[in-house]
Amino acid sequence: MIGVFDSGVGGLTILKSIHKKLPEYSTIYLGDNARAPYGDLSQEQITAYTWEGVRFLFESGCSLVVLACNTASAQALQTIQQEYLRPDSGKKVLGIIRPTVEAMSELGQERGNLVTNEVTKLPQIKALGIFATQATVDSEIYLDEFKDQKSELEIYQQACPGWVMMIENGEDKNKALEIIKADIDKLFSQNSTIDAVLLACTHYPFFHDQVVQSLPAGIKVFDQGDLVADKLVDYIKRHTEINDQLDRTSKRQFFTTGKAEHVSKVAETIVGEKIDFEHIDLNAESR
Ligand code: DGL
Repeated sequence: MIGVFDSGVGGLTILKSIHKKLPEYSTIYLGDNARAPYGDLSQEQITAYTWEGVRFLFESGCSLVVLACNTASAQALQTIQQEYLRPDSGKKVLGIIRPTVEAMSELGQERGNLVTNEVTKLPQIKALGIFATQATVDSEIYLDEFKDQKSELEIYQQACPGWVMMIENGEDKNKALEIIKADIDKLFSQNSTIDAVLLACTHYPFFHDQVVQSLPAGIKVFDQGDLVADKLVDYIKRHTEINDQLDRTSKRQFFTTGKAEHVSKVAETIVGEKIDFEHIDLNAESR
């Protein structure tokens, strides 16, 4: 099975794309809703909580876990991959930041110079705004990953405190507009010529329409879901030893450390389909 982990309901935006691109693959989703938001926590806390989630997914039968959370990918992935995962375990943990940056760089080469500044038919993107949690912004990982891709993009980051909990609490999206507009203004005050933005927190695509509505006209908005899912398809094609372990009977399970009824309701209003979450306790001693 493929495990998909997030601090809350945000990872559903990635899971939806995974189900679209890999419909037969069985998945287990885990949201650590009881401890969200991760974006304001320390690296130690994010790493400890993420590892607890990953271990639960391994114990539930996953051999591959996707951290469908930028904050966990930025702050916890390296320690988990390099220090916690036993190389002989046959299990893998992937993040979503490198795949996002690689996929955007490839898009640029194919159709529009996102990265390379080649002259093509599509409008050029020279300055990219990144909306993310404080912990992702502080890690500067997006700056490093775009640099690794030899990108010539100018990057401007803006933390958006408050967005995640408005989504977790199931608040009226239009009530969020004022806060969204204020964060957009802050981003554009760094550089008014930004011509595209990336929603680099998996919760934020739930506000996609509100972001588009609040941005100056003509600004392209990138969500990560399809970019990450395409890269996951590539990954499992290249890693047959992992692919062979993955169940392909389209099972879908949803777990939360929060209140199952509330999380199921929030998930349903934002994803648009009925999802039944089951509560679990991540406390290692009790399992
Ligand atoms: N959805 C997560 C992300 O992509 C984290 C949100 C949070 O818990 O602060 O960064």
